Amino acid sequence: MYYPEEVIEEVRERNDVVDVIGSYVQLKKKGSSYFGLCPFHNEKSPSFSVSPGKQMYYCFGCGKGGNVISFIMEYENFGFVDALKLLADRAGVTLPEAEYSKEDKKRTDEKNLLLEIQKKAALYFYYQLKSENGARGYEYLKNRGLSDQTIKSFGLGFANPYPNDLYRYLKQQGYSDLALKESGLVKIEERGAYDKFWNRVMFPIMDINNRVIGFGGRVMGDGSPKYLNSPETKIFDKSRNLYGMNAARKSRKPYILICEGYMDVISMHQAGFTNAVASLGTAFTLQHGLLIKRYTKEVILAYDSDTAGINAALRAIPILKDAGLSIRVLNLKPYKDPDEFIKAEGAEAFQQRLDEAENSFLFEIRVIKEQYSMEDPEQKTQFFNEAAKKLLEFSDEMERNNYMEAIARTYHISYDLLKRRVIYYGSRTELKEKPMKLRSGIQSRREKDAGVKQAQKLLITWICEEPEIFSKVHNILNPSDFTEGIYQKIAKLLFAQGERGEINPAEILNHFMQGEEEDTQVAAIFHAKLPIYPTREERNRAFRETVLRIKRNHLEEISKHVQQMDELQQIVRKKKELEELNISLD
Ligand code: CTP
Ligand code: MN
Repeated sequence: MYYPEEVIEEVRERNDVVDVIGSYVQLKKKGSSYFGLCPFHNEKSPSFSVSPGKQMYYCFGCGKGGNVISFIMEYENFGFVDALKLLADRAGVTLPEAEYSKEDKKRTDEKNLLLEIQKKAALYFYYQLKSENGARGYEYLKNRGLSDQTIKSFGLGFANPYPNDLYRYLKQQGYSDLALKESGLVKIEERGAYDKFWNRVMFPIMDINNRVIGFGGRVMGDGSPKYLNSPETKIFDKSRNLYGMNAARKSRKPYILICEGYMDVISMHQAGFTNAVASLGTAFTLQHGLLIKRYTKEVILAYDSDTAGINAALRAIPILKDAGLSIRVLNLKPYKDPDEFIKAEGAEAFQQRLDEAENSFLFEIRVIKEQYSMEDPEQKTQFFNEAAKKLLEFSDEMERNNYMEAIARTYHISYDLLKRRVIYYGSRTELKEKPMKLRSGIQSRREKDAGVKQAQKLLITWICEEPEIFSKVHNILNPSDFTEGIYQKIAKLLFAQGERGEINPAEILNHFMQGEEEDTQVAAIFHAKLPIYPTREERNRAFRETVLRIKRNHLEEISKHVQQMDELQQIVRKKKELEELNISLD
């Protein structure tokens, strides 16, 4: 969708970045910037900065940054258009009718077609389950304890035991082979078309807006594979969707329950735990975590109680932490999964287990402990060493102390002893982090590239911080001297602003907003750390070095590709002139 640039800029300008972010994050003024706890990663001391001068934000901890529009996109998980709408609304700007570009329209149409096909398929499967054909499937679900109400609210269905039953139905509805292939429901081969799913009970997977985006299908009884899932398509991104989230997000419970499977989610919902979701056989991702974070601050992991489930929990915990969630872990023993627990013990006992769910750090420590025999003095020592190292994860002293206390109490070790061990490892890691200098040809080339990149970044930041230096720069450099792709793009925009006498970094970001992750990269470029120079001379020298370095590098790049002798001579001359150039901030 297209809005004219002026409109985007007006919306951005009318929404002060400190005002807007201040309504989401508590900010404190420090120097010329505001600081707060970063909403995009978990932290205890504020490294998230908002600059009223630049109208931008940047987190020195996780590197996320941008202008007010990208903040809303990131925080609310909105697309560009929705973020713009929210901010326009907030500032009382009326947006004109947006124009769709041809590609946008094509993409939207394709997605809508795929959504329509999934919906038709879901209705068909549901209908089959309730008809004579689906009697086996219906019986299977009933035997697993599902009520008609549950079957209906999850839209469960049945795929007939014929190889192309769905294909024929959808063809009859007028869909093309191409569209059906793209839907992932049908495989088109030389010898004909085959349904992906047949003779299975079907679980439609919905996005948070209740639109069917894919399916899981289970064999009735033993058989392999037990579950079959839709492939990823233009509308089904496994790393961004959670089964059951459409209902769970409306549950108004203080936490979300995360489990492994379809049947676990369904059993829990049926038992009243309507806040359960599953990541469905794929690894848990940060996007999953951030999706949950939109609705709640806490999760309880209800993974299977076997080794695979424990390992899955250990992998998910750091990801959930990064998303800023606090985590507890449910103990389902002696049962395998939530479905089996509830069937055996009922909802009340399950609630009790939820109340007793263990803090995720203590869970991790307990898992480590199980690898050691506490009867053996040597192994016991090793365990406490591991625990001490792990305690270093907490940068907040009070929090770390609380965990040390808990561990000392649970595992019968003196608090002081444990603390000394933690301090010991803490000082060692600091030492380890001092880098060893290794030199090789490749290494020094890399260092040089990094140096050039650094210079380009530094100069961009410098111009934004002190726009008056632009007049010195633009006599010597032009945007093509910025050889890094993204820096060049920025330099072009920045130089155009400079010529007009209005340096405005936040406006530049408008141009990067619709690309993936680019805006964060760009925001980082505007936030290079300007060194503090003790004297005027040193400042001047650094400025000169930075400008020359950029120019020199570009000339060297060009000289690699010249064909003619006279061109080369020209470059050599330019390089010489450059070294003699008198350039200073004064
Ligand atoms: N899974 C999958 N493909 C498989 C096996 C499992 O995609 N071949 C996914 C499914 O989403 C399943 C989840 O992993 O729900 C958990 O698998 P598992 O524990 O084996 O199954 P249960 O959830 O216990 O399924 P059921 O109770 O129906 O046996
Ligand atoms: Mn199960």
